[in-house]
Amino acid sequence: AFGVTDTKDWDLLRASLFKCNEGTLDIPLIINGERFYYNDTTSDKGGLGRSFFKQQNPANHEQVLANVTQANDNDISYAIESAKKAKKQWSETPFYDRAAVFLKAADLISTKYRYDMLAATMLGQGKNVYQAEIDCITELCDFFRFNVRYASELYASQPVKSTAGVWNTSEYRPLEGFVYAVTPFNFTAIAGNLVGAPMLMGNTVIWKPSQSATLSNYLLLTVLEEAGLPDGVLNFIPGDPIKVTDTLLADREFAALHFTGSTAVFKNLYGKIQTGVVNGKFRDYPRIVGETGGKNFHLIHNSANIPHAVLSTIRGAYEYQGQKCSATSRLYLPESKSKEFVSDFIGTLEQDNSKMSPVNTAASNIRGGDLHGFIGPVIHEQSYDKLAKVIEKAKNDPELEIVYGGQCDKSTGWFVGPTLIKTTNPKHEFMTQEFFGPLLTYYEYPDEDFSKICEIIDTTSEYGLTGSVFARNRSAIEVANSKLRYSAGNFYINDKSTGAVVAQQWFGGARMSGTNDKSGSGNILNRFVSIRNIKENF
Ligand code: ALA
Repeated sequence: AFGVTDTKDWDLLRASLFKCNEGTLDIPLIINGERFYYNDTTSDKGGLGRSFFKQQNPANHEQVLANVTQANDNDISYAIESAKKAKKQWSETPFYDRAAVFLKAADLISTKYRYDMLAATMLGQGKNVYQAEIDCITELCDFFRFNVRYASELYASQPVKSTAGVWNTSEYRPLEGFVYAVTPFNFTAIAGNLVGAPMLMGNTVIWKPSQSATLSNYLLLTVLEEAGLPDGVLNFIPGDPIKVTDTLLADREFAALHFTGSTAVFKNLYGKIQTGVVNGKFRDYPRIVGETGGKNFHLIHNSANIPHAVLSTIRGAYEYQGQKCSATSRLYLPESKSKEFVSDFIGTLEQDNSKMSPVNTAASNIRGGDLHGFIGPVIHEQSYDKLAKVIEKAKNDPELEIVYGGQCDKSTGWFVGPTLIKTTNPKHEFMTQEFFGPLLTYYEYPDEDFSKICEIIDTTSEYGLTGSVFARNRSAIEVANSKLRYSAGNFYINDKSTGAVVAQQWFGGARMSGTNDKSGSGNILNRFVSIRNIKENF
């Protein structure tokens, strides 16, 4: 259950939402602690000019929440200079002082700024209150607090052995150079961890946030500043991704990429970094830590508890409009249970449709509106257009049938209804491609072919992020567990494919889903240190 429950909470949340609705916020670049605005010519020393990006409310695209300043070439260079300059002092700051910044920030987020964080995430990223709470409060604070705990354990451990007359120690140095963080729109918490983990380990960071999440991300940065983060440790430069990337990757001190986003962008960045290495551009082999997409499955065995599997699938596929890298997007049903499953699934959706109000939109909605509404908007027009096109395609494909949903409406916000599609081909592109929206495709398999369907799932898993099996039969669980070993980095038994909890389900997948360094664990912190071994003879 989420924490916004009593009247006082609702009043405070509504006040924060009203504040965000008061007008359009000008969001600056923040470099070396200095603010640079698109409309401030005095700070634009090179006279290059700065444009701005309009961050719209996806539930009400008439409403511009923020004018986001875009970094020009000089700004990007200044961010590099600033990250380098701040490095020495920050990397020499004792761990407990660095840790204190993140612990304090977590406290501020969960108390003083709680409702502002919720409002910024709800309005900017199209979340209902429940989805916002588990993201920008719970998960974000968990990342900050657990990273501190994991880092303390790492620093305290001395895995090397000493022998008579010899003292061996290992030192976890920050990387030499700066870290480039590219963060996604869908989780404020992920953005926080992508910048937070490297900083905690003593690195300085250049942050290119998703344009669609700038409001919450900017607020997060100001909270970190209030918590004591020194100037220059985190440099915030929204801007043209190619321009930012190419400038940063031209610098010898580029030390690491910390990325969450689309597969296509990650592959491109990966290639550019490799080319840079081959051409001798960098001092080190930069660390590449990335998490991309998934085509996450729910596999239902005929021994499954069907009502539980139905509810889990609805939540996995449609919460936050399916815009989680972990969202359930392909479903395998045994023939004997398919009818029951689909009718229960549609029945539940019909009931819940009453809650699918376009919430968190304009002030009028907030005043009387239901802030719980199950389905909100997708993030932006490109996403809406892509999903609408995919739905059109499904209507004309003989191997596909839209069994439920398929409605799209962009008159006020970018709304795509929860959609269930049936396919007769388990290798259809709807069973292999990620759409990043509330679309779920299912295939019926003969009950006796459970083992075979596991093999098909595995061979069609270009991604390897999350997946679930629903069964009560232990040997079926065992078959799935073994045959799907590499199909999912997060494998769930009788639970949905979404909702990994920091420190409980370490999160990440291999194959085309990413480098599987596991956020929410101590492993990720290891990627942002460079270990030195020191031997002393007595
Ligand atoms: N960590 C998020 C989840 O598991 C993406 O749903």
